[in-house]
Amino acid sequence: MNIVDLDERNLSLYLVCLEDWSNEMKEAGKMKEDWYRRMQHRGLRVKLAVDDHGTVGGMIQYVPIEFSFVDGKDLYFINCIWVHGYKRGRGDFRRHGMGTALLEAAEADARELGAKGIVAWGILIPVFMHASWFRKHGFRTVDRNGMQALMWKPFTTDAAPPKWIRGKFRPELAENKVTVNAFCSGWCPAQNLTFERAKRAAAEPQFEGRVQFRAFDTFDREDVRRYGISNSLFIDKKHVWSGPPPSYEKIRELISKRIKRLR
Ligand SMILES: CC(C)(COP(=O)(O)OP(=O)(O)OC[C@H]1O[C@@H](n2cnc3c(N)ncnc32)[C@H](O)[C@@H]1OP(=O)(O)O)[C@@H](O)C(=O)NCCC(=O)NCCS
Repeated sequence: MNIVDLDERNLSLYLVCLEDWSNEMKEAGKMKEDWYRRMQHRGLRVKLAVDDHGTVGGMIQYVPIEFSFVDGKDLYFINCIWVHGYKRGRGDFRRHGMGTALLEAAEADARELGAKGIVAWGILIPVFMHASWFRKHGFRTVDRNGMQALMWKPFTTDAAPPKWIRGKFRPELAENKVTVNAFCSGWCPAQNLTFERAKRAAAEPQFEGRVQFRAFDTFDREDVRRYGISNSLFIDKKHVWSGPPPSYEKIRELISKRIKRLR
């Protein structure tokens, strides 16, 4: 197995998180590509794990923390590490050392780039990025926000620990309309998918004139700071999503229910 840098040949594969078989990835639209084009010049690093037959099975992407959605300085932040684990498409590559090799390569790269440490986020229950997996690789938790842990591995004694950006978003509701507030930073196709579904559902002809859709671009950390949110969906005051993307039908139903309660 080899760890290689992302190149143009593998770009489209990276943009769909190696899930070139997935219709949901197509539905997630072009936001990941836009994010990539903007982040390319801001220090984004992407590495891929390639097996002995030349098939890409895993990826890791990390950015200078100043361009992430958490507070910190002179550190690199891992947006995500992903080893393809489905039987569909290219197949299941997990538990063959790809994840460890990707993490080690990113860490070595961050050191070489002169960072003072490397940071990851993880979930404390076994879904998505597992905090326990990073702990196993020497990361320590420095901050918690509900079920989410922020973990780091400092390289120098003067490294300052990162922090979650916290804030409370209080949606302003439109007069006699359902308000849909959708926050999206672009780096994660799963989050982009939720955004795209919400936008499409809000524009359903049957809801014409009854829904106000507001899009918040949280690419910049300053915008994350302003709202205390990087990716989220609110329908009126209800925070809809904090996990896997809800289906289009679910979002449409939630909007429809709120419309029925309008005068
Ligand atoms: C975490 C992940 C990167 C590991 O990749 P991998 O290639 O299977 O990892 P490796 O083969 O290097 O390591 C597997 C080892 O980690 C262990 N492991 C797996 N999940 C673990 C967890 N949650 N906690 C602790 N150890 C774990 C395995 O038991 C195995 O240990 P062993 O070598 O002693 O048998 C992979 O499982 C993955 O992509 N998970 C999903 C992450 C995700 O949701 N990313 C998207 C976030 S937006």
